[in-house]
Amino acid sequence: MKRYVIIFILVIASTFLIHAWLMSIGLFPIEASAQSVAVDQLFHVHLWLISFLFSLIMVTLVYSLIFFHRRKGETGDGAYLTGNSTLEITWTAIPLMAVLVLAYAGARTLGAIQVIDPTAVQVKVTAGQWYWQYAYPDYGVTSTDLYLPVNLQIDLQMTSVDVIHSFWVPEFRVKQDIVPGRTVELRVTPSLIGEYKVRCSELCGLRHAYMEGLVEVVSQANFEKWIAQQQSAAPPSPELRGQQLASSYGCVNCHSTDGSAKTGPTWLRLYNSSVKLSDGTTVTADDNYLKTSIINPNSQVVSGFSSNVMPDFSTVLDQTMVESLVAYIKTLK
Ligand code: CUA
Repeated sequence: MKRYVIIFILVIASTFLIHAWLMSIGLFPIEASAQSVAVDQLFHVHLWLISFLFSLIMVTLVYSLIFFHRRKGETGDGAYLTGNSTLEITWTAIPLMAVLVLAYAGARTLGAIQVIDPTAVQVKVTAGQWYWQYAYPDYGVTSTDLYLPVNLQIDLQMTSVDVIHSFWVPEFRVKQDIVPGRTVELRVTPSLIGEYKVRCSELCGLRHAYMEGLVEVVSQANFEKWIAQQQSAAPPSPELRGQQLASSYGCVNCHSTDGSAKTGPTWLRLYNSSVKLSDGTTVTADDNYLKTSIINPNSQVVSGFSSNVMPDFSTVLDQTMVESLVAYIKTLK
């Protein structure tokens, strides 16, 4: 009996120590959404549980190693035990209860974070290799950064133009896969003004690790101001628009604008230069060549570069966007 008391005390002490250590190593980013509170509550239950289970197993193991190991001169076998119904029922019933309680808590949390506010601000999210794009249909505004008003529910309607991506802002805690061909919904209520990052958390190709974007949570007044600014901004020149597209659609991740070597050919001094293709022919990089290369890159692969590397932009970029990109490329002399 005395041994059980000692083990019990050691397990409790160890549980608190392990839990304190887990809390000290910065597992949690700050909570920046209403949903993050409920999610973190679940995490805290789990942290206590794993601290306890780890302690229960390790304390019992180490205690047994110290006090019950084979002594010098001992040669006999240990006692042979055949079943213990009480123990077996206990170690089945307790985990079963634990799993049921956690399932209930998980379902409740999921319900709580998916509550729909009919007045939510709608944002259409488009994910693609390798960029994020946002549209605010209520205001007729599009943006490559995600601006959100604080303390209002945001209804993110998300689509992908190519492969599976995943929308994840760690500070918001909620995360949602975006499957091509479907529109998926994610509800989030930012609760803390600040600058965050959206990361893609689904391996989506070569530049997956760099598929990040700015998320700016601002006061409701500043959000209105930003919207008004976007609405009144004069439409940019084709060259400037092209530069923005090159950045937001990730073109410049593979095509340098300063002549440096990247996955694709550089855009510096590309316009009107002669380009050697992998089939041995030489073409002039005129408007036509550039447009075709953007929409159908595998039709004229440049010598020294691989085909089938560039994502398909034919359904993403319309005629005007392609022309803007060409206008921008022309400026890179
Ligand atoms: Cu998109 Cu990873």
